[in-house]
Amino acid sequence: VIDIRKLYAQTGKFTYDPGFLSTAACQSKITYIDGDKGELLYRGYPIEQLATQCDFLETCYLLLNGELPNATQKTEFNGLVTRHTMVNEQMQFFLRGFRRDAHPMAVMTGLVGALSAFYHDSTDINNPQHREISAIRLIAKMPTLVAMAYKYGIGQPYIYPKNDLSYSANFMRMMFATPCEEYVPNDVLTRAIDRIFILHADHEQNASTSTVRLCGSSGTNPFAAIAAGVACLWGPAHGGANEAALNMLEDVQKMGGVEKIGEFIKQVKDKNSNVKLMGFGHRVYKNYDPRAKLMRETCHEVLGALGKTNDPILKLAMELEKIALEDEYFVARKLYPNVDFYSGIVQRAIGIPVSLFTAIFALARTVGWIAQLNEMIGDPEYKIGRPRQLYNGASKRDVVALDKR
Ligand code: ACO
Repeated sequence: VIDIRKLYAQTGKFTYDPGFLSTAACQSKITYIDGDKGELLYRGYPIEQLATQCDFLETCYLLLNGELPNATQKTEFNGLVTRHTMVNEQMQFFLRGFRRDAHPMAVMTGLVGALSAFYHDSTDINNPQHREISAIRLIAKMPTLVAMAYKYGIGQPYIYPKNDLSYSANFMRMMFATPCEEYVPNDVLTRAIDRIFILHADHEQNASTSTVRLCGSSGTNPFAAIAAGVACLWGPAHGGANEAALNMLEDVQKMGGVEKIGEFIKQVKDKNSNVKLMGFGHRVYKNYDPRAKLMRETCHEVLGALGKTNDPILKLAMELEKIALEDEYFVARKLYPNVDFYSGIVQRAIGIPVSLFTAIFALARTVGWIAQLNEMIGDPEYKIGRPRQLYNGASKRDVVALDKR
């Protein structure tokens, strides 16, 4: 690692690195990825252990505080989050301004940014108490907002949070209960959604996290910085890939399913086609994404619990994975399934519409964004982020009068 700042101070030389392929913008103690081994650690703990032995709120506590909570800390933290699950009633009127068919991520970008208009007591990003309470508010209110966006879209009344339920069961209830019919939580499905939250909680300096850091570095308020992360996450090369992956599987199914995989793979390999195998490939993982392995396992559990083991989309995904992993094109480029390849199948089986997948990713990633924001602001080397550029435009020239141009 070269600390280029010294070289810059002495010589004025700087690096040119589009896509930040070889530039670390920060130091971090939160998440570690070994892309060659396919290893992911949150605060040193392997993702496999967290996903099987902890729940999402314990993972949130870990990411925010650096250590897993003991039993008392866990109860206190759960209680704190639970007390903040409601959103201001005025948010309903804000939601009503959207078209019913608006994309949930368009709605979420607006709703999360709008929180700063309601919580004036927690908008100073440089004040640790403001950051602490805004973190709890954001983690607590994201499920409520996602469920409200969903209910609004389908024209059903909002379901208010019920705080004697776990974080994930509460979310499922706000999504699926109606005033006429109470939702009976299913343990396998609740555990699956909780696992989706854990697996998506942080992933070091990806595009949306870097966006949150950059946005927060200007001193904007925490809600605005997280809204910027939501906007960045929406893109199909990032969080939007779960939606794109499921749409792709459904398209291949319509083409003829398993029989047509060969034809589809041919299109993917054709560089003029612009077709990608969505849910495959990763900037950092050059091995199987460990989250994808856990997600595939969850996929089988959920479909088993729902009696849908013959789901044609799951069969198609597994066959597509098998064929791609043996294909020279994918082998040479080290392209493996990422977390999004199977998460869409799980969410669809649970009854979550495809257009909501990325909003659920945003819900889960909020804690990671906040932990990264806190770390940046606590870093004595923290400065406003300001990338350099290599200017290659016109040289200095004079404006020609309008009648002579
Ligand atoms: N399908 C087909 N070819 C691919 C794919 C894919 N999914 N991903 C990469 N490639 C190819 C590229 O075309 C390139 O080929 P080339 O060397 O012949 O030009 C080579 O593999 C390297 O790919 P890059 O685009 O340079 O890799 P990069 O690190 O910039 O991109 C990315 C990573 C954006 C994730 C890419 O793999 C992709 O678009 N995947 C599909 C979208 C997706 O699943 N995104 C989710 C990422 S995980 C997340 O955000 C939670």
